[in-house]
Amino acid sequence: MCGIVGAVTERPVNKILIEGLKRLEYRGYDSAGVALAQEGELHTVKAVGKVANLESKLELAAVKGTTGIAHTRWATHGGVTEANAHPHVSKGQLALVHNGIIENHSSLREALKGDGYEFVSETDTEVMVHLIHQLREQHDSLLASVQAAVKQFEGAYGTVVFDKANPDEIIVARSGSPLVIGLGLGENFIASDQLALLAVTRRFIFLEEGDVARVTRESVEIYNRTGERVERNIIESTANQDNTGKGEYRHYMLKEIYEQPMAVRNTLEDRLDGSRVAVKAFGERATEIFKDVKHVQIIACGTSYHSGMVARYWLEQFAGISCNVEIASEFRYRQSYVHENSLLVTISQSGETADTLAALRLAKEQGYMASMTICNVASSSLVRESDLAFMTKAGAEIGVASTKAFTTQLVGLLMLTAAIAQEKGLNAEHIVNAVKSLPMKLEEALQLANGIETLAEEFADKHHSLFLGRGSQYPIAMEGALKLKEISYIHAEAYAAGELKHGPLALIDADMPIIVVAPNNELLEKLKSNVEEVRARGGIIYVFADKASHFESDNTMRVVRVNHVEDIIAPVVYTIPLQLLSYYVAVIKGTDVDQPRNLAKSVTVE
Ligand code: G6P
Repeated sequence: MCGIVGAVTERPVNKILIEGLKRLEYRGYDSAGVALAQEGELHTVKAVGKVANLESKLELAAVKGTTGIAHTRWATHGGVTEANAHPHVSKGQLALVHNGIIENHSSLREALKGDGYEFVSETDTEVMVHLIHQLREQHDSLLASVQAAVKQFEGAYGTVVFDKANPDEIIVARSGSPLVIGLGLGENFIASDQLALLAVTRRFIFLEEGDVARVTRESVEIYNRTGERVERNIIESTANQDNTGKGEYRHYMLKEIYEQPMAVRNTLEDRLDGSRVAVKAFGERATEIFKDVKHVQIIACGTSYHSGMVARYWLEQFAGISCNVEIASEFRYRQSYVHENSLLVTISQSGETADTLAALRLAKEQGYMASMTICNVASSSLVRESDLAFMTKAGAEIGVASTKAFTTQLVGLLMLTAAIAQEKGLNAEHIVNAVKSLPMKLEEALQLANGIETLAEEFADKHHSLFLGRGSQYPIAMEGALKLKEISYIHAEAYAAGELKHGPLALIDADMPIIVVAPNNELLEKLKSNVEEVRARGGIIYVFADKASHFESDNTMRVVRVNHVEDIIAPVVYTIPLQLLSYYVAVIKGTDVDQPRNLAKSVTVE
């Protein structure tokens, strides 16, 4: 989603800002812009589309600055136009970028218009810069006017503003959208993600909710939401900036699909103790919490929600405790029942998803025994605000469509299942042993790529598709459908196969491919009956099945044979061929695989 980069230095900042924006590109955006201050002048350059367009325009404009702010915008309020792109400017003096949504923008806009402010965009953001400008008249510093302005903002913001009259400082404020200050020598930086700044620094201060900070070349002053001056820890980042290359692969998504055996290996490393899970991998208090837990409430969005759905099957079957799974945006706006000794588990690759974070904060007031997150970013808000955390070690995931983050979440959830079972005195050895075989099983599944690439050609002219699964493969069918729609733009629905005759059978014809996930388990015969129901109505079926499942390819059925795998880890393994299918269909259709239209990697607005 939107990205922010800012710098206050003595050297020209153009390259730093553009490089920073490029590192955030993968998150998804539709326009970009930069504002630079030099010798009392304010220069703004904006472009629709890729950061490369902005870079060319900036070169043509031949403007430079030693202080600057830059932004990639993912449209929420107002279309994709240069006028709506950030930075927004007030009276030619203040420039501001913003991530998040100001919910009371309409009333603020009306009031500011009444006071003579002219609006040039349709965005919610423009009110921020005008309000700060207006308040500047009543306050003796830009910092004080930002502190006064944020009191009037309802909604979420990570924002950065500077005044061309005093380009040696930038003021930043965070509430609901992350911001990090990067520390240099005689220069300082700001970004919505440390990744943007790894080329210039490794030392970071993560702002907390409600913080407002004044950043100059030489100093960083931070004030909390009540206006008190506070110190925040300096963190030395170990994030790997080299992770961001595509290597020999055509797309990041393909690279990340192939990285899954290694990502799972990394996630397991040091987390197993013989045939037991090392419970401390979840945090200091994990043992005591897992002993007492009686219910697990999982909250997540998108792909992460699908991993939670799989975990419900595991936790109830193997750890013997009840589990509910809910989409964060639903959970946060309803009155839900909190079971006795209930553990709240959030799942998120980014750790910054606005709805998931809000759900965690809400749940903290509701009497859960503890909160835990399964997350891929150690410095994220979800990790910092949860009692326990299990870090998936997938490495940076650049493709918007989540792949290795998903499979490592599943591994984390299997470990959680085993850890709770263990602490309750149940035997979890079979789970641990199955998990250990996963990297090898994933390698085997990747060998299906060539056959799937050929199969993908049959999907290129299709507009709709249906994914079917039963049991813990139902959420995998949902994830397969999500992947296909995200990157190939083919409409895809997933159904629990037993639900076919309650509606979706009406859709079946030769133009509607049916994708079936069919490992050899106790539900296979049931699933076979569902497949016959489809065949009888002329549907073309694509089955991903165990060698021993006895499906045979013919003119209405294409069978992709998957090596036998233990049922408990089958959801992880069957994910791979579905990812490959989506990938190759998207490549054939010529879509922007890594940055599909309208989507964002880190959804920091609700
Ligand atoms: C976006 C991403 C998805 C992701 C979802 C939830 O939609 O494109 O890949 O599954 O957000 O994000 P999270 O970071 O919480 O897992």
